[in-house]
Amino acid sequence: MKILLVGSGGREHALAWKIVQSRHCEKLFCAPGNAGTSAIAENIQINAEDIDALAGFAEKQKIDLTVVGPEVPLVLGIVDRFEKCGLKIFGPSGKAAMLEGSKAFAKKIMQKYGIPTAESREFVSAEEAFSYLKKQKAPIVVKADGLAAGKGVLICSSLEEAENAVKKIMLENAFGEAGKKIVIEEFLEGEEASFLAFSDGKTVKPMVSSQDHKRVFDNDEGPNTGGMGACSPALIVTKKLEKKILREIMQKTIDAMKKEGAKYKGVLYAGLMIKNGKIKVLEFNARFGDPETQAILPRMDSDIVEIMLACIKGTLKGKKIEWSKKPCACVVLASGGYPGHYEKNKEIFGLEKNCNAFVFHAGTKKENNKILTNGGRVLGISALGKTIGEAIQNAYFAAEKISFEKMHYRRDIGQKALKKQTGY
Ligand SMILES: Nc1ncnc2c1ncn2[C@@H]1O[C@H](COP(=O)(O)OP(=O)(O)O)[C@@H](O)[C@H]1O
Ligand SMILES: [Mg+2]
Repeated sequence: MKILLVGSGGREHALAWKIVQSRHCEKLFCAPGNAGTSAIAENIQINAEDIDALAGFAEKQKIDLTVVGPEVPLVLGIVDRFEKCGLKIFGPSGKAAMLEGSKAFAKKIMQKYGIPTAESREFVSAEEAFSYLKKQKAPIVVKADGLAAGKGVLICSSLEEAENAVKKIMLENAFGEAGKKIVIEEFLEGEEASFLAFSDGKTVKPMVSSQDHKRVFDNDEGPNTGGMGACSPALIVTKKLEKKILREIMQKTIDAMKKEGAKYKGVLYAGLMIKNGKIKVLEFNARFGDPETQAILPRMDSDIVEIMLACIKGTLKGKKIEWSKKPCACVVLASGGYPGHYEKNKEIFGLEKNCNAFVFHAGTKKENNKILTNGGRVLGISALGKTIGEAIQNAYFAAEKISFEKMHYRRDIGQKALKKQTGY
């Protein structure tokens, strides 16, 4: 098969690495890819959001399967567009991807079908939001409805802060169109985990659980980022909780979308808050997570293309997905200043020294045979181990061999999991 992978981050390099191992894959293209994907696939210079150009390329090249990494093209309807041209593509339709594309829509689905989530209200008028806030208690959470590249959620420790958040989103249009509507929701305490599953629109098959590390500094301090590292499994997700999540959240959501006339095919990602065995959904994403994917795919023993084809065909029920018992840790190496302003074009050293870890490229590019930084999150170093502790140790051992000017990374990836370590 000729396969096209859309996107350019660490998630996409991990997907590319897994896809080229498939017995179905003869040739892989990445649009636009990064320096890592260029070593195992052919990068093509088409932006991930340029759906017309991507469809044109797929038709001309007779691409047999397209896999979409990021959320923007999904929400823009890339799957509908490809299917209309008779092109096979893995991912939810534009309507189904609204689970991620509109937080208010996701909330409505959860409320209607009894999927556990924080209490919330949606607003299209700032005035109404202000008067609602007067009767609420802090802390409280204000969310822009639409896609905001992970910046649209404001956790407010006072009502004054919440009012300012409403102002920023609705009156100052900090997130543009994405803030025309907002969701104000109850603040939830607990520990977060990510749960991803494959679906063909009817059947749900779980991936192994994982945990992201959103804040830029150790001990979950500093501003939010796209994710500074990940661990799989998330030990808070016990076998018992996993069953519950699968039944009461994932399957229920897939069934709900089917009833709503928006069959959900692809990867469904639930961001969860867990406290005392009680689970609530923080949000849904319509795709693989980044950097969770870099900690999940090294554990996947099955042929990923085969699973993706089954999702498209509607035959997932008969498929068994095999996972390694070995935990995996991923440490993200970031540019100095990230998630704020950072410089690019720093030469990366030490990349050839890693044999016991996966070096997944994110913001990198190749120029004159040098690998240069080209983004905030530059690399994700993933490693397996017999225990979580060993996986973490292996990942850091490899990370320490790599350097570029002003590189920074968290030193405590997986420590939360390690403290809970029981059977692993
Ligand atoms: N109701 C809530 N209570 C507490 N924290 C929340 C709540 N909603 C979101 N958060 C925090 O904000 C982060 C981002 O929110 P999320 O809904 O996942 O949006 P996005 O990933 O689109 O920015 C979450 O990972 C979580 O840490
Ligand atoms: Mg999130």
